[in-house]
Order: sequence, then structure tokens, then C-alpha cells
Amino acid sequence: MVDQAQNLREFVRDSRQHARVLAVTSGKGGVGKTTTSVNLAIALAAESARVTVLDADLGLANVEVLLGLNSLYNLQHVIHGEKKILQILAQGPGGIHVVPGSSGLAKLADLGPAARQNVLTGLRELQDQNDFVIIDTMAGIGQNAVAFAAAADEVILVTTPEPSAIVDAYAMVKTIHGMRADSVFRLVINMVATEQQALAVASKLSHVAQQYLGRSLSYLGYIPRDPHVSQAIMQTQPFILRFPGAAASKCMHQLALRILQQRAEADQRRPGFFRRFAETLGLASSA
Ligand SMILES: Nc1ncnc2c1ncn2[C@@H]1O[C@H](COP(=O)(O)OP(=O)(O)OP(=O)(O)O)[C@@H](O)[C@H]1O
Ligand SMILES: [Mg+2]
Repeated sequence: MVDQAQNLREFVRDSRQHARVLAVTSGKGGVGKTTTSVNLAIALAAESARVTVLDADLGLANVEVLLGLNSLYNLQHVIHGEKKILQILAQGPGGIHVVPGSSGLAKLADLGPAARQNVLTGLRELQDQNDFVIIDTMAGIGQNAVAFAAAADEVILVTTPEPSAIVDAYAMVKTIHGMRADSVFRLVINMVATEQQALAVASKLSHVAQQYLGRSLSYLGYIPRDPHVSQAIMQTQPFILRFPGAAASKCMHQLALRILQQRAEADQRRPGFFRRFAETLGLASSA
């Protein structure tokens, strides 16, 4: 009997719900979406999460370039039904997987029904296999970026303290909010001099969103401007692995911990099947 209960606890603990989808986006280009996507993925994987980064940028294969990967297959092959998404996964550093991007994504809205279905099926398969799917989108209010962001469980909106980046970030919030009013936004302020600067930017953006859209934006955290970031990029390595002690790396681990904590809180508010099953059996507290 004890053995049975123990087995069930382990079963419940191991039976994870399907992935939370985080779309990393921005209004302005070059603010740090790709570096954030990849390094955040590795930070989450370091906490035992199963993470895949999907490169949804327009044909530039940003994620692969950043990691020095060179895959034979990409999303294009999935769109055309030549490969399943799990067959094109590239093994990235730090235990993450990468779905290599493709210029085919430039025309997501123009795809025929079969191709669209292939993309959807692929995304569902990714969700089943991961705890987090991180989508590195293009900058700006282009159709694809907005479609991914509006569909995601959470939008990680990256901006720098530059006024033009803040203005464009707000335009992005407005567009995504216009498509889906219950989108969840988490602000990451990148390339800051101090945390105070990040807090000031986040509060300014949140205030404007509150005033004009009647909604709040939550602050996820900041990443300092850190020379280790570009040094690691030059070596085609993620900075979090290349320079684990760097200030940017420590902040990235903080972001990951906050995301995990928020996920645990969300699961508690809306428990999934296994948790409810465990509760029915009186095993929830230790499961
Ligand atoms: N925290 C940081 N400290 C210093 N430099 C940084 C930091 N974050 C990003 N950078 C620099 O900014 C550049 C752009 O970053 P990244 O490619 O991640 O931006 P992006 O938003 O994905 O750009 P794009 O819109 O072109 O896809 C990097 O090459 C890197 O040199
Ligand atoms: Mg990028």
C-alpha cells in the first residue's frame, strides 16, 4: 500500500502539464530578443525544465547563428510536410533544443490550409514535449510577430531604456492588446546601467498602458549592459555558459526563477488534471 502511494506520488510529480509558451518580442529591433531567448532558455533548463527555442525570426536564422549551429532542416521542411517538428530539433547548449527558423515564416498569413495545419501540429507536438517553448519573434508589429505574441501564454516584451525603444514597445503592447485583451505581458529591460533605471522604464511603460489601455504590465526583471554579452556572441556561445559569473548571467538566472515561480503560482490557481487527481486521492500536499 505504501509502495503504491509512493509510486503514485512519483507519477504525479513526473506528470508535467504541457509547455507554457513564452513569446519574446519587442517594438524596436536589436534590443536583445535573441540573446534573451537563448540565455533564458538555458537558465530554465538549468532548473531542470525541458525547453525548446523556436526561431520565428524572418529567415535570418538568428538563434542558430548565435549558437554556431548549422542545421540541415528547418521550419520550412515542417511547413511543407517533409519533416515532423521533432525530427528537425537541433541540440543546443545547456540541454536546450532549437527549432531552426526559416524564411517560410515570412508568409505565415499567406500559407495554405495544409501548411498552416503543419505549423499548428508542430507547435502542439513541441508543447507536449516541453515545459517551456520560447519563441524568438521578429521586432515590430509585423503579422507573424503579433500572431505568435497574441497566441502565447506570456509575452516577454524586451526593451532598452532608449526613448525610441520604449515608444515602439508601447506600440507593440497596443497592437497585441488589440488582438487579445487578456494577453499577459512581462517586461524585461535590457542594457541598463542600474536596476533603478530598469524600474523607472518599466513603471513609465506600465503607467502609459494603464492610462491608455486600462491594463497593467508586469515587470519581470532587467539585464545590465555587460561587455560579456557581445564577447560571448563573438565566440558563438551563450553568455550564461561562457561567463556564468557575469552580471548579465546572474540576472538571467533571476528571470528564470521568477518565471518558474509564476508558473507554480498559476498552476496552483488552476490545477491541472494530475494535481486534481492527486487532491482527490489526498496526495496533493506531498505530490
Ligand atoms: N545586456 C547586453 N549588454 C551588452 N550588449 C548587449 C546586451 N544585450 C544585447 N546586446 C547586444 O545587442 C545586440 C543585439 O542583440 P540581439 O540580437 O539579441 O537583439 P534582437 O532584439 O534579437 O535583434 P533583432 O531585432 O535584429 O532580431 C547583440 O549582438 C549584442 O551585442
Ligand atoms: Mg533577434
